[in-house]
Amino acid sequence: MIQVNDRFRQLPESYLFSEVARRVAAYKKNNAGVEIIRMDIGDVTQPLFDSVVEAMHAAVDDLACPASFHGYGPEQGYSFLRDAISRHDYHDRGLGIDPADIFVSDGAKSDLGNLGDIYSRDCKVAVMNPSYPVYVDDSVIDGRAGEIVDGIWNGLVYLDCDPDNNFMPSLPKEKVDVIFLCFPNNPTGEAITRNELAKWVSYAQEKGSLIIYDSAYEAFVREPDKVRSIYEIEGADEVAIEVRSFSKTAGFTGIRCGYTVVPRKLKGRYADGTEVSLNMLWNRRQCTKFNGASYVAQRGAAAIYTPEGLADVRKVTDYYIGNAAIIKDAFSRIGFNAYGGDNSPYVWVSAGVGKDSWQIFEAVLHACGFSTTPGSGFGTKGEGYIRLTGFNSRENTEIAMSRLIDSGIGL
Ligand code: MLT
Repeated sequence: MIQVNDRFRQLPESYLFSEVARRVAAYKKNNAGVEIIRMDIGDVTQPLFDSVVEAMHAAVDDLACPASFHGYGPEQGYSFLRDAISRHDYHDRGLGIDPADIFVSDGAKSDLGNLGDIYSRDCKVAVMNPSYPVYVDDSVIDGRAGEIVDGIWNGLVYLDCDPDNNFMPSLPKEKVDVIFLCFPNNPTGEAITRNELAKWVSYAQEKGSLIIYDSAYEAFVREPDKVRSIYEIEGADEVAIEVRSFSKTAGFTGIRCGYTVVPRKLKGRYADGTEVSLNMLWNRRQCTKFNGASYVAQRGAAAIYTPEGLADVRKVTDYYIGNAAIIKDAFSRIGFNAYGGDNSPYVWVSAGVGKDSWQIFEAVLHACGFSTTPGSGFGTKGEGYIRLTGFNSRENTEIAMSRLIDSGIGL
């Protein structure tokens, strides 16, 4: 037998959302006929836009004819999509991100983990607490997290986020090499202002750190002072990689397509001090381990940038934000503290000090028939919270929230 990567042993037995799904399935099995509304994982419910469906049908037709057939595509993504991303998501907003800085992928989650291939195993990694579990779990698998003691990995630096700091982390006291930031944040649903983010860019410039900026939820930003892209901050193209997704904005959770921006200005150094372009390294990594997102998915993604597609993004994100508002209002009405939701599909709910997230999850599941995500699954600072998503249908969201209010639940 081969020796396996021992670090898997230290990880929680299952990934957070798999554990939530397991518990929901177990509850359903023991309570036949009970209809559980899923308000846990951030999976979308609204179908693909007409423009996307048409483009994908046409792409399948292309593949059916010898003259228009496509085999392997460019590992970096087709230029029709990279050009559209560069133009609409960056140049139209006054940001100088060019197609050559953009790498199309099969989604944000894989890129967020795979980026660990290009920075040293010795890099000190900082994560927000709470945070999307992928940053921590990947750091564990890659051997950068150290050992776990009382739920804290001693090799990581945690950036605590709670109501006292409005869920905006403070700069680390020590020097860190790689900083995972996510705004609008998963799980707290809070967005960051330009002034606040500028502090991180300055820190990274001063310390020579790399920011990995997860901006999967940027299309939900509504308040004008909140950041959509880290490149809105001057100098960020020398210190930050930005990871984006079409999953939540255009219903691509099942199609799989996203992109990562690795600006050509971004530099690192080899152990002997020689300077190297991170864009070049990421390109090398992708060419070795990735054969590009599918042609059909990329044609679908390009249709998001047509006038119809852009209008549909606005419509669907408004719809999910509307659901988040209903959730926030319902929890506030029963006396809970509810955060986020204004520039995000996520609502972060506190049941009060001393409450256990998994107990709240179970109590809500049993009393109200809907699932949530326990905040403790996002880190120690998530204990006592649950996260809800606005991604279900309006009808299901309304049913779930009236069940909440009718249940008289007092946790
Ligand atoms: C979430 O619920 O946090 C997300 O759906 C997970 C993901 O995007 O992978």
